[in-house]
Amino acid sequence: MAESTITARISVSSNPEQSWEFPVLHGSEGPDAIDVTKLYKTTGMFTHDPGFLSTSSCESRITFIDGEKGILRHRGYSIEDLAEHSDYLEVCYLLLYGELPDAKEKAWFVKEITYHTLVHEQLEFMFRGFPRRSHPMAILVGAVASLSAFYHDSLDIHDEKERDLAAKRMIAKMPTLTAMAYKYSIGQPFVFPQNALDFSSNFLNMMFSVPAEPYKVNPVMARAIDKLLILHADHEQNASTSTVRLASSSGANPFACLGAGISCLWGPAHGGANQAVIEMLREIEHVDRIPEFITRAKDKDDPFRLMGFGHRVYKNYDPRARVIKKYCDEVLEEIGDQEDNQLLKIAKELEKIALNDDYFVQRKLFPNVDFYSGIIYEAMGIPTALFTPMFALARTVGWVAQWKEMMEDPELRIGRPRQLYTGYPARDYVPIDKR
Ligand code: SDX
Repeated sequence: MAESTITARISVSSNPEQSWEFPVLHGSEGPDAIDVTKLYKTTGMFTHDPGFLSTSSCESRITFIDGEKGILRHRGYSIEDLAEHSDYLEVCYLLLYGELPDAKEKAWFVKEITYHTLVHEQLEFMFRGFPRRSHPMAILVGAVASLSAFYHDSLDIHDEKERDLAAKRMIAKMPTLTAMAYKYSIGQPFVFPQNALDFSSNFLNMMFSVPAEPYKVNPVMARAIDKLLILHADHEQNASTSTVRLASSSGANPFACLGAGISCLWGPAHGGANQAVIEMLREIEHVDRIPEFITRAKDKDDPFRLMGFGHRVYKNYDPRARVIKKYCDEVLEEIGDQEDNQLLKIAKELEKIALNDDYFVQRKLFPNVDFYSGIIYEAMGIPTALFTPMFALARTVGWVAQWKEMMEDPELRIGRPRQLYTGYPARDYVPIDKR
């Protein structure tokens, strides 16, 4: 980060003679930032930014988003290029280590991940303690945080080797845990990882194979899953990544902090939106009912929102949604469902109507990453309750890459925001017989 030669001057109208200067920081791309770390010490005032609409919480070199232009890059590479030419494990390497791997580095990394896909046998007993109808996100929150009970050789956050091992373990074990949560919910036996399969084929095999007969992974489905994982891998300082960063700033172990990130992602305003989109499309039921739901989405007295639309940062089409929409057609064509897939028909018609409606245009509400992803998952036979776990599976690399970057920052300190207090001033205790 370069401290620029310019500064920001702040003065308060109640005392215009007095003003203070703060440095303006230059990034390599995107908005400059006013460094207010000394604002309170200098002025006795806080900044106030609930929801962090104008706040940079950290310096990062991993992902860049330009919300106005709909740009998303990981370590300088566009999401479109990575989705087109790369694969998920290669993107994991890029996010973790900063560069695309050469052939030798890639082979090493794929082997490292492959040989960490098994989970401790004892974890099975934890799964069996959940009701069969548990939401898989509830199981994942518990299972991921509980990894800290099993892997004591990768808990020392100050040891670079242990951090690297913890990061690889989480990337490797998330598909296994996600598939276990699915198998447990349908009463089928857990399927072990197969080292001979690539990352996404291995996931599909753990999800859909049964011991009673051979299972052949459909390469088109495996490719689509791999691309969806790339598209969900990281996204700057979104709510769940910020949760992982804040939890980790206390020095808590990475497995427990990822459990916090999974909890945050579960919300319908965040990663839970992909499940909410499918539920919304099902509720709309037919293209004729779209106007009724558009009206509800615009009605301030109606809590209904158009799920999969809008974004805190993108005020343009989410570049990931554009790519996913393309893969939708490819996957549905492969399974011969493209023509009469009602959900896709409603989604495309809903998008068309919304993008021509003033309410959405004025507020720059476009489809986001969650709008089309559920249609692909649904077409692959992945149940709705597994959609957000798929997001968590993909985002694990983003969480651990951002965690790793934060732990390597010599300026690391515990995150502890302040507040604007609007409660009672001091008052004396009143005995109960006087109240
Ligand atoms: C993800 O941050 C990330 O990077 C997240 C993510 C990632 O990769 O990590 O990209 C993944 O979480 C994508 C977002 C998934 N969520 C949804 O699809 C849920 C539906 N969308 C919204 O709830 C909403 O758009 C948010 C939560 C995504 C963003 O909310 P903001 O930035 O706080 O915006 P806002 O609520 O202040 O909305 C601004 C205006 C409001 O109207 P006015 O008060 O100005 O009249 O737009 C309206 C909102 O009512 N609005 C919507 C709407 N989203 C915003 N109106 C109807 N339908 C919607 N979906």
